[in-house]
Amino acid sequence: MTMKKDVLQVLQQFSPIPLNESMLERPIHTHLGDIALPCFPFAKELRKSPVVIAEELAKAIHHPLILKVQAVAGYVNIFVNRSVITHSLLQTIHTQSIAYGSNNDGNGGVVTIDLSSPNIAKPFSMGHLRSTVIGNSIALLLEKNGFKPVKINYIGDWGTQFGKLLTAYRKWGNEQAVHQAPIQTLLQLYIRFHEEAGLDDSLNDEGRAAFKALEDGDTEALALWKWFKSESLKEFQRIYDLLGITFDSYKGEAYYNDKMKPVVNELADKGLLVESDGALVVELDEDMPPCLIKKSDGATLYSTRDLSAAIDRKTTYNFVKSVYVVGNEQSLHFTQVKQVLGKLGYDWADTIEHVPFGLILKDGKKMSTRKGKIVLLEEVLNDAIALALKNIEEKNPDLLNKRATAQAIGVGAIIFSDLKQHRKHDIEFDLATMLQTEGETGPYVQYAYARAHSVLRKTGASASFFVDEVNDFEWEMVKLLEQFPHITRQAAHHLDPSIVAKYAVNLAQAFNSFYSNVHVLSDATHKAFRISLVTSVAIVLKESLRLLGMQTPEEM
Ligand code: ARG
Repeated sequence: MTMKKDVLQVLQQFSPIPLNESMLERPIHTHLGDIALPCFPFAKELRKSPVVIAEELAKAIHHPLILKVQAVAGYVNIFVNRSVITHSLLQTIHTQSIAYGSNNDGNGGVVTIDLSSPNIAKPFSMGHLRSTVIGNSIALLLEKNGFKPVKINYIGDWGTQFGKLLTAYRKWGNEQAVHQAPIQTLLQLYIRFHEEAGLDDSLNDEGRAAFKALEDGDTEALALWKWFKSESLKEFQRIYDLLGITFDSYKGEAYYNDKMKPVVNELADKGLLVESDGALVVELDEDMPPCLIKKSDGATLYSTRDLSAAIDRKTTYNFVKSVYVVGNEQSLHFTQVKQVLGKLGYDWADTIEHVPFGLILKDGKKMSTRKGKIVLLEEVLNDAIALALKNIEEKNPDLLNKRATAQAIGVGAIIFSDLKQHRKHDIEFDLATMLQTEGETGPYVQYAYARAHSVLRKTGASASFFVDEVNDFEWEMVKLLEQFPHITRQAAHHLDPSIVAKYAVNLAQAFNSFYSNVHVLSDATHKAFRISLVTSVAIVLKESLRLLGMQTPEEM
């Protein structure tokens, strides 16, 4: 039960009109009560002014759960009995512990999550970072709501660009250099290919031929490609280790190389394939460009592979929903794929959802992986960790496990600064700001947790939930704690981790003002209760950050 539901039950006993939960509001200001009922919508039916309705209702309500009722300008403002609510809430959190805020809405249904999906032989971009971090949090949120998430890293390891890369390597490549710095070296080769192909078009033909050989399974080409891939994956793995993120599947584009025939045949059988300038396409709804299935030279495309992967995922996992955490710029692609699946008659096409996100900006400009200004993500992560370590050396030089703590803080700062805003927004990337311990940052929330933990280290545990009086500082925390199940549900429903991130900041703020205004230890009558309250705050802060994919050091 939530406070809103409890109050609704009471109100229903006194109201002349049937009420539901959505009619109740939670006033922002404490002096307006804990729950308010605006009476304006009832005026017509009751043929009375809202002011009168509110006054009559306020007079009628008497119940042990309700401390005080005020009618103010058409609103019924309800002040609940804080001790009753607090007592039952603390008991619930104490019993459920980290399961608090979980539900079984998903009923075990599988949701596949396409996330991260970097391209081999290319740097892991800021966009891939966003996809990784957002996708991981969405997986955790879905799990919290009773779904079974399956995280798929759909590696970009196929396409005509690999023909160009093979050609470049054969002409100018050097094994040693690839071993030493695989992605850097392969990227340079790829760039050189484009420069030289600009002067000599026959290179492009060579590139195409090389890709054709690869597609047809040429042993030497395949061996080189496999090597490029394993070297790239090793580099990506270092990033995933820093982020603490794992995947359930690494089936990438190449996996579908020899599995596209059935879809292409099915499209042909159902009369959906149309020839256009030698290429094969599926025509879509008005205002939509057609979806390309095969190029004029017979090569398949990104969309062809995605169609075949989507069907494979349905067959393998029988998902209830299939989400793709990919940047805004691929919206058209996913709309096309979804429409083609719909035209094939797959009713599950409706359960496909593109979860788009904006860019990461540096000083208002896109952080680019183009020639000359490559931002290497691994360096960025290591910079964040180094900065966190420097802060620790200044503030808490005697800390044990400095390196592990710095990693939790540095990486956490990057994750939090990404997730605190709605994913569709572009976000500005500034390490110094995101590592501050003040403001809406990861370290700020982690710090509140560490503080709560240090209180509990001194006091030990307590299981006393009763208190006769709950002060305003305590009440702010109780109200937020009580909202947590609603927060986790909303965040999963909207696939929006920012709901949890904002909540975590609010709870950390409420805890910090409690901490600086109320003496947890000195007041003997309230001490046991306050320890239970701080324990609950620590549990929920830790769980909120876990849902974002962040760690919570106990000291920092
Ligand atoms: N590798 C692609 C890129 O870097 C992203 C793949 C997204 N997932 C998908 N199923 N298309 O742009």
